[in-house]
Amino acid sequence: MAQVHQFDAIVVGAGGAGLMAALYASRGIKTAVISKLYPTRSHTGTAQGGIGAALGNLEPDSWEWHAFDTVKGSDYLGDQNAAKVLATEAIDAVIELELMGLPFDRTEEGRISQRRFGGHTNNETKQPVRRACHSADRTGHMILQTLYQNCIKENVTFFDEFHVVDLIMNGDRPAGVVAVEIDSGELHVFQAKAITFATGGWGRIWQTTSNAHTLTGDATAIWLRRGLPLEDLEFFQFHPTGLYPIGVLITEGVRGEGGVLINDRGERFMERYAPTIKDLASRDVVSRAIYLEIRDGRGIKGKDYVHLDVRPETVNRYLAEAGEERRLTAEDVINKLPDILDFTKTYAGVDPVKQPIPIQPTAHYAMGGIPTNLNAEVIRDGSETVIPGLYAAGEVACVSVHGANRLGTNSLTDLVVFGRRAGQQMLDYCKNADFVALPDNPTAEVEAELDRIRNASGSVRGIEIRKKMRKVMMDHVGVFRTEDGIQKALDTIRQLQDDFRNNLSIDDHGYRYNSDMLEAWELGALLDTAEATALAALERKESRGAHSREDFPKRDDENYLAHTMIYSEAGKLAVRFDRPVDLSLGYEPKERVY
Ligand code: FUM
Repeated sequence: MAQVHQFDAIVVGAGGAGLMAALYASRGIKTAVISKLYPTRSHTGTAQGGIGAALGNLEPDSWEWHAFDTVKGSDYLGDQNAAKVLATEAIDAVIELELMGLPFDRTEEGRISQRRFGGHTNNETKQPVRRACHSADRTGHMILQTLYQNCIKENVTFFDEFHVVDLIMNGDRPAGVVAVEIDSGELHVFQAKAITFATGGWGRIWQTTSNAHTLTGDATAIWLRRGLPLEDLEFFQFHPTGLYPIGVLITEGVRGEGGVLINDRGERFMERYAPTIKDLASRDVVSRAIYLEIRDGRGIKGKDYVHLDVRPETVNRYLAEAGEERRLTAEDVINKLPDILDFTKTYAGVDPVKQPIPIQPTAHYAMGGIPTNLNAEVIRDGSETVIPGLYAAGEVACVSVHGANRLGTNSLTDLVVFGRRAGQQMLDYCKNADFVALPDNPTAEVEAELDRIRNASGSVRGIEIRKKMRKVMMDHVGVFRTEDGIQKALDTIRQLQDDFRNNLSIDDHGYRYNSDMLEAWELGALLDTAEATALAALERKESRGAHSREDFPKRDDENYLAHTMIYSEAGKLAVRFDRPVDLSLGYEPKERVY
């Protein structure tokens, strides 16, 4: 029999969104955070360059410009009411983090320092604006540490290394979750009045990714298995600058400090693709440009990478050409980008002060996910029907503020703004809500699946399935896509799902710390999320933001200015474009020019 725990509110995931939600909920109700990691190892800690907020500390800026840039960056698929919430609430959310103790870098006057980032502009001059509030290149790390310390102060209960593997529903109401205690292998039931999922993304579907091994789409797979819909999964962002060949993130802050992208001919090629803001165009634009340069034979030495050059002499030459007064010194690179120096030296043997950094686009961020409204409440259809007591925030959620392409720094903004809303909502909801009764034997289904995996003795190892999945998704559901390629990926994923269900083999048949079994369970989650992603990509027959169909190269607002809803019906996936895009700020879709 599984142990049963009861809390008013449960948060699944201990990244920035989860901790912010827990912090707010814990101010009035008994709150627990369940995480398959130690909280300070959550992936928010790898976010580097900054958190976007129009503080205007170094030059004029406004929330309206931030909201417009977010909508334009989203290729007009982002909900404009969500962009307004993000841009307005970002300002006091950043001040709140500062007051909680977050050590931001400072201007000479002692204000929070800000740097340039892709797609963030002065809407009048169209030039890049300094909007990214930063703590060197460790901004996410600092947010995570600050929020964790504050959660401890507020007596939030933590269940570390408890892996959530199911959502318990009673009819159409959430009653709790089931988790594996990793140390013992035992199942635990957590009953709660309110549950927030904040489990992050699923970049491990792709071969080259900036995502940690833990980003495996656990919640998205649970959603499909529970017959709940997902939204906009085809929009998965490739960050332009992953360290070649391993894909580790090299922050856009490098370009924010003046770094430029250079091809094998020594050309600053972004001048051709985005004449106004060049290397600081939105990520979808820059990633496509890099792919095209490589495809046309202008990768460095004909290989699959280009250079990111932040050597002071290079940067200063371009700054002088642009008529800018500021200059970059070696000390600036060392002080403002210390982690980047460390990563490039450790993993590529490159010192960025003296050598250009080899980079290639890397699977980075899910714009889609669990559909929610502006209050982080989970919805079950395109008509905004709320599931009471169930919330999602951060990368796993699709509010939808990022639409078809997220701007850099808006992920950290998203997780504090909408994480805070989730926590506040749970607090309000729990004042009048009762626990939903647990169904009989709430662990039965997931226990059977875990037993099947634990005892699997077929002929295909998980690692083989994983490698094939990652390759086919990289080749055919990556930066550029075609009908034939996506169909091939979908067929392969379905074949791999079949192998996973009927022919899997694992070595560890025990209970204690059985990472073999849990990684296989995660593989099942990745496969289900990959299938839904490929299907959504197949059905959206246009190009928009991060979804670039070579067979449908234009954006088609007449037919596809709508969110993709992926429904799981009788064990099959169905795609419908039945959730309208909010256009309430009045920004009519236009061609994007950077
Ligand atoms: O480039 C970066 O520092 C990444 C930030 C982000 O994804 O927002």
